[in-house]
Amino acid sequence: MAEQEGENCRIWVHCNKKNGQSQRRIFTMANRFFEGAAHAAAYARFRPHPPQSLIDNILSFLKSKYTGALAAAADVGCGSGQTTWILAPHFNNVTGLDISEAQITEAIKKNKANNVSFKVSGAEKLPFPSQSLQVITTGQACHWFDLPKFYAEVDRVLVPGGVVALYGYLFPLPIFGEVSDQLAEIVNDVYNKETKGYWGDGRQDVDEAYTDPKFIPLYQDFIRNDSHYTDRDVSVTDLTGYISSWSGFQNYRAQNGDKAASDMLQNFQNRIMSVLGVSTAPEDTQLTLRYKYFIIMGRKP
Ligand SMILES: C[S@@+](CC[C@H](N)C(=O)[O-])C[C@H]1O[C@@H](n2cnc3c(N)ncnc32)[C@H](O)[C@@H]1O
Repeated sequence: MAEQEGENCRIWVHCNKKNGQSQRRIFTMANRFFEGAAHAAAYARFRPHPPQSLIDNILSFLKSKYTGALAAAADVGCGSGQTTWILAPHFNNVTGLDISEAQITEAIKKNKANNVSFKVSGAEKLPFPSQSLQVITTGQACHWFDLPKFYAEVDRVLVPGGVVALYGYLFPLPIFGEVSDQLAEIVNDVYNKETKGYWGDGRQDVDEAYTDPKFIPLYQDFIRNDSHYTDRDVSVTDLTGYISSWSGFQNYRAQNGDKAASDMLQNFQNRIMSVLGVSTAPEDTQLTLRYKYFIIMGRKP
């Protein structure tokens, strides 16, 4: 992928080589990778962009009843911005908010849209006047929020007829011919075995696709859609990078140290390469990741 050509993208290059020099290089770069800002950069690189169909779904739900101008939208828990920019073509002003300064710094660095701005802010107190937004989105983030406080703020800042959209995506399914199921099992092992116990409470909500009743928006007029997905062609090194962006992995690293975390990633990548059975290097070996999305939208009366 073109967007892989940054400074950190070579982190795992050569990591399947057995000579000592390569191993040392991996470890040094892995140390850098784990810094807060570097983690935000990894996030930007390895996380999926929501499919256009999902944005279209939000807009059509809004426009089915709201006929005013699309003046402003906000993306709460915006991370490094990829869930924010998708709103830019449709609203005069878009604001991405995140509680993490490192994520906002990364988003500002990458921002090319002059109608999009980013601010550090928690979801529980939104920096907007009452009745000023047509749409509020939150992608793969609201399971971390204090939902009653967030909903109260949503209700305050949405215009009548405005829409709140809570969405997320399940762990990606690796697709590579007949070994797809085996690859999925290896990803599951990192989640269910190696990083088990290192995830916050919110992760279960994602695994359950926000089916817990607490995710039903405060409004009676709401819909749910589980049909959206996006496919991403990535290299095996990208897949390893994606695993390293998991909060469960980052917690594992914080408790067990960089060496243990690096070893886990190394082992993961070796297993993937072994199942693929190809002679190419991990960075030159492509597979597809399918991310399935779920979305719940509510309309303010
Ligand atoms: C899994 S990331 C999702 C980022 C982005 N929306 C995406 O899908 O790529 C979750 C984000 O929520 C942010 N977050 C967690 N709790 C928050 C809160 N209470 N208020 C605002 N942001 C929060 C985190 O800092 C993180 O950037």
